[in-house]
Amino acid sequence: MTQEEVFKQLTSHAKEYGFVFQSSEIYDGLSAVYDYGQLGVELKNNIKKYWWDAMVRLNENIVGIDSAIFMHPKIWQASGHVGAFNDPLIDNKDSKKRYRADVLIEDYIAKIEEKINKDIEKGKKKFGDSFNEEQFRATNPNVLRNVAKMEQVRARMAAALNNNDLAELRQIIIDCEIACPISGTKNWTDVRQFNLMFSTQLGNISDESGVIYLRPETAQGIFVNFLNVQKTGRMKIPFGIAQIGKAFRNEIVARQFIFRMREFEQMEMQFFVRPGQELEWFAKWKENRIQWHKALGLGDEKYRFHDHDKLAHYANAAVDIEFEFPFGFKELEGIHSRTDFDLGQHQKFSGRKIQYFDPETNESYTPYVIETSIGLDRMFLAVLSSAYTEEKLENGEERVVLRIPPVLAPVKLAVLPLVKKDGLPEVARRIMDDLKFDFNCQYDEKDSIGKRYRRQDAIGTPYCITIDHDTLADNCVTIRDRDTMQQNRISIDSLRDYISERVDYKNVFRKLHKID
Ligand code: GAP
Repeated sequence: MTQEEVFKQLTSHAKEYGFVFQSSEIYDGLSAVYDYGQLGVELKNNIKKYWWDAMVRLNENIVGIDSAIFMHPKIWQASGHVGAFNDPLIDNKDSKKRYRADVLIEDYIAKIEEKINKDIEKGKKKFGDSFNEEQFRATNPNVLRNVAKMEQVRARMAAALNNNDLAELRQIIIDCEIACPISGTKNWTDVRQFNLMFSTQLGNISDESGVIYLRPETAQGIFVNFLNVQKTGRMKIPFGIAQIGKAFRNEIVARQFIFRMREFEQMEMQFFVRPGQELEWFAKWKENRIQWHKALGLGDEKYRFHDHDKLAHYANAAVDIEFEFPFGFKELEGIHSRTDFDLGQHQKFSGRKIQYFDPETNESYTPYVIETSIGLDRMFLAVLSSAYTEEKLENGEERVVLRIPPVLAPVKLAVLPLVKKDGLPEVARRIMDDLKFDFNCQYDEKDSIGKRYRRQDAIGTPYCITIDHDTLADNCVTIRDRDTMQQNRISIDSLRDYISERVDYKNVFRKLHKID
């Protein structure tokens, strides 16, 4: 199966098992907006907890807030979003479809990359064990030509974006002979800038002055509360403020399921430091965040850093943590050194002094900021896509299993009486009642035990216990591991400890903080 086919299977699996639904589905859906179902919300909450506890609970100098989505419209002028939160757009005159110019070019580059990978695959097949990829890349004329072409287009695009040169972006599309995927023609309009913020009207004011925006990032809610939190929390620099919340962007390229949505959630943390120390902290947070990802065990090889080709006007360093989604390596999280831009701008636009008096240096200054910003929905997709596995078993049967890290799994334990009689359901219910305060448990007595195991595999439940007739005599149950499918006999009294040891966040945090 191609990666594209796997991704299709994954999206239909996410719907079939109650993880993610298209928004307003009975009205034919709303593009790039999704609802989380009964299992999706559990997984999402678990990811939030993993992030919140790692940031807020385990760092004495980081606190959390929850600011409103609606904010004073001047905030978005100060932050630069009214003037510059734009995407370069181009329309195809025949299909009337609108595209992001940079995405059309990126897709073109991805196609060249695909060609390179195909040549490498061919080489592998031809030369078998003696194949040396490094040497092949350095000598094969097709690969060399395509790499050079790719690099040239990439450099041109980066320069055009950096210089805000819209005519050059269009010229790249023309020169690369990029056609509209719908009409197949190259009949393009000029490239124009398009603001991504959604706006609405405040209360009973109908003119321009009543326009307010749905926040396109949660970060500004942190900046405008800097003084409130610093003073009321008696925070000393360096310190951080974290927030999880909704953000809204009128994305033009809305595709790849929940990867790019119009309404999504961000988990952001702004870390305030002394001017001049920002790059040191940037390096620390870069390392800290990659370790947070890796501690989940989705596979270290699935992450890579990508330095920004184009630095935002307020940043003096920026890097993305990219994850290998089924459609390639894409941005999962951004780490940005935002200088004193945001606090400085809010000081200017609000007329309030936003400074910190440093008792160690006896100086007042505008703190510098390191931001870590991750999309919750993208993190959800990273977990789900790396977990989704179709397996052929030794007995010839097939199963779909979600190998979700046990700490994040929506349901931790399935309680399954072997039959619906002979007192087994009563024992099962007693176990449920005892453990449901510790873990999210599911009770299931319908169908054969094999079918019930498959249902739990499909939603990623790490442990199933079966209560059988022997349980009545020995007070033990059979516990089955989702990944190995191994079954062990274990006493009911030791269940809580057995499962806790394997699903508790503490274990991942211990690994993260290198505590034995
Ligand atoms: N405050 C900085 C900021 O918002 P960003 O790179 O625009 O930076 C940060 O966004 C993260 O938010 C991204 O790395 C991504 O995970 C997530 N994100 C951005 N736009 C998104 C969208 N349309 N749908 C889902 N997630 C998105």
